[in-house]
Parts: sequence; structure tokens; C-alpha cells
Amino acid sequence: MSSYIRINKKIGNFKNSIEIPGDKSISIRLIMLASIAVGKSRLYNLLDSDDISSTINSLKSLGVKILKNKKAVEIFGVGLNGLNMKENIIINAGNSGTFARLLCGLVAKRDGAIKLLGDKSLSKRDFSRVIIPLRKFGMNFKSKNSKLPLIIQGTKNLRPIKYVEEKGSAQVKSAILIASLNTPGETKVKCIPSRNHTEMMFKHCLGIPITITRGNKYESIKVKGQKQFKCFNYNVPGDVSAASFFIALTILSKNSELTIKNVNVNKTRSGIIEILKKMRGKLKLINKRFYNGEIISDIKVESTYFLKSINCPKKLNTKSIDEFLIIFLLCAKAKGISTFEDIQELRHKESDRLKIASDFLRMIGVKVVEKKDSLKIYGNPKLELSDKFEIKNFLKDHRVFMMSCIAALTMGGDFKIHDQDSINSSFPNFLKILKKLGARIISVN
Ligand code: S3P
Repeated sequence: MSSYIRINKKIGNFKNSIEIPGDKSISIRLIMLASIAVGKSRLYNLLDSDDISSTINSLKSLGVKILKNKKAVEIFGVGLNGLNMKENIIINAGNSGTFARLLCGLVAKRDGAIKLLGDKSLSKRDFSRVIIPLRKFGMNFKSKNSKLPLIIQGTKNLRPIKYVEEKGSAQVKSAILIASLNTPGETKVKCIPSRNHTEMMFKHCLGIPITITRGNKYESIKVKGQKQFKCFNYNVPGDVSAASFFIALTILSKNSELTIKNVNVNKTRSGIIEILKKMRGKLKLINKRFYNGEIISDIKVESTYFLKSINCPKKLNTKSIDEFLIIFLLCAKAKGISTFEDIQELRHKESDRLKIASDFLRMIGVKVVEKKDSLKIYGNPKLELSDKFEIKNFLKDHRVFMMSCIAALTMGGDFKIHDQDSINSSFPNFLKILKKLGARIISVN
């Protein structure tokens, strides 16, 4: 694996159609839920990346048989109480915050303790957000400062909880909902709305009655403990977070047009589309269809020579939480000042994305005002780079690497970008697709 890549030529004049890999959030949830269903589930177009391998390998350690063949990943579900209960199982979640946090809910009902480990980036992330609600179920956790390594101790006597989730975190909500499956009685979560894949899978794949009531600020979700549920098949749609880099690439390139096929544009996930429409980005959704509670569409996007700045409505924050890095880059090229508020959650991702984005934008000559929980970007439609830039020490955050590549390919300059292997966590063929569109990328060992 080369240690860095070099990009010193802009891309442009492409007209093409691409497919992007399966949705990461959906892939992780499917593997976990199929593992505790009864019988063999077949998952098609599952994302093939390091986060998914960590998920699959961990479930194998918990006693689930999982086979990969050319067409599908087959999961031989062990049933709700069928996971291996042995003491001292060690699980390594690698870079995956989603898997690690959902796992805490998945193993709520068990005898043996589990030791949960992760890579350098995951080991800096906070687990109190799942520890606090899961303790209310009767679980126990041991750790230093709520960080990995974490000892997870389940219980045979789970009790249903009522919990108010204030961060708009789908991982926290999902950990609670998954724990509730094994908990007698009704669990109630009141939460700031966030991606709803877990709820959609409960309803459409597992056939579990789930009540969702939407209020002004919060939504309320109620689920009853289950005896068992049956296996299911699922064809994973493309990941809008992966698509977002190609949307930005096309918008910021000259004379270009791209169709990205089969993307999941679920409303709780596709804030970037709403944001780009407000910024007058040229994109449209075509061939929309519904699948298991998700909305799938092709996205047609074109070069946009005039982008308008945005005062981003706070209600779009959770809907675009993984796309902010690339949205900020688009704002750097927009006319006017863009503002984002209440975005402190960005500090708790694979890296501190609010700081990294500010540093990056300043480095390329864009004025920003970074506060604890907000960012102001003074856009410059004429921004063109000619200097040398080196991007490193970003805790191997895959989205920082990909955003840097898009900046290099659309703004000019001579970029040296380290840690190419970071893309393996979510989008291993990212550079291959860029090259297909005509990008010149030099790998250096
Ligand atoms: C995810 C939820 C989000 C997101 C992450 C995936 C999920 O995290 O940033 O990449 O699949 O539930 P939070 O729950 O911390 O907001």
C-alpha cells in the first residue's frame, strides 16, 4: 500500500455514470440483525470494507456462521438468545463507531463479559453516550473515562427503559432499540430525529411492531421485547455519504455531468441534497422508488458555475452529519458567507472534523470563524490554488482523505495526501472510480 498520493492536475469534461458501494449504516445493521434472526438471511450488495469485515468477524466470534459468496453474504442467524455466551470474548471493532456502539446493545442479555477494542481513532471516542442508557437496562460497563477498551457486562434480567436522547445520535438510538428486542415490556425513546434505518428494518424486515410519533423537536419511539423474529433478504442501496464526494466533484468541475445510480436518499440521511438545492447546485433525483422504508434514486448532477452560500437550518444537521466536510468545501467556492450552528457533534467523529475542516480551509486561503459548536465560511467563487499542500495526521479519517482528494481535483495546487488506506473503512474503490472519471492520481510508496 502506497504511503501517500499526489494530485497536481484538475479534473473536468467528464460525462459518465457510476455506481457507488452499499450503504455502510445499513450494511452494519443488517449483519447484526440477521445474526440474531432465526434462519438464513441473504444480503446482496453489502458494502465490502474494513468496517464491515470488523462487523462480520466480531459476529463470527460471537458464534454466528457467515458465508460470503459472489452473489451475497449469507448469515445463519442464531436467534435472539443464541449468541455465544462464553466469558472473555474479545471483540475488535477496528475503526467502526457504529458497529461498536450498536454491539453494546446487541449483547445486552448475556452472562459472559465482552472486552471491546478498537483502533487509535475509535479508542479516542466517547462511549458514555451508550453506557448511560444501557446501564438503565441493567447492563454494566467498565472502562477508563468511558473510552475503549470497554468491558461490557450484560444481564439476564433486562428491564425496559424510558430515555431521552438529546444528541440526535442514530447510534445511541439504535443501541437502545436493539437492546429492547431482548427486554420484556415496552422500551420508550424520545429523541432528536436522526437516520431511521434501524426503525425501518424493525418494521419492514423483522416484522416488529414499532410506534413512531413525530413531535416538533423530538420523536417518540416505542418497541416491545420480542420472542424471536425470522430471517430476511435485503438488497443494499448505494451510500449517499459515498455519493456526496462525487456530487461535489461534479458540481465543482468544468463541463461535467454525472449520474450516480441507486443511491439511498432516505430523507433522514440526504440533507446534502436539500443543502445543495438551497445553494443552487445543479442536481436532480430521477427514477425514485421505495424499498423497505428507504427511498432509492439515481442522482443526476452537473457542473455548477454559481453556488450560493447557505445559512444552514439546524434541522438539517443530523441529516447531513457525515457530509459536512464536503459541504464545507463546497461553501468555500460559494458566493457569500455560509454559517453552520450546533454542529459540535462533528468534534466526536473519526477525527475532530470541525477543527480539521477549519484548518484545511484556512490552509487553502479561505477565511473561517470556528467556534466550539459553529463554523462560518467566507466563500470565494474565484478560489484557485497553485501552492503545494500536504495533508497528514488526520487520524486516518476516511472522509478527510476523500474531501482532500476532491479539493485537489477541483481547486488546483499540488497535493500530497497521506494515509490512502483510510478509505478502506468505507469506500475502498474510491480512487478507482475517480480514475475512471479521468483523475490523474499518482501513488507514491
Ligand atoms: C451512524 C450515525 C452517525 C454517523 C455515523 C453512522 C449510524 O453517528 O455519523 O457515521 O449508522 O448510526 P452518530 O450516531 O454519532 O450521530
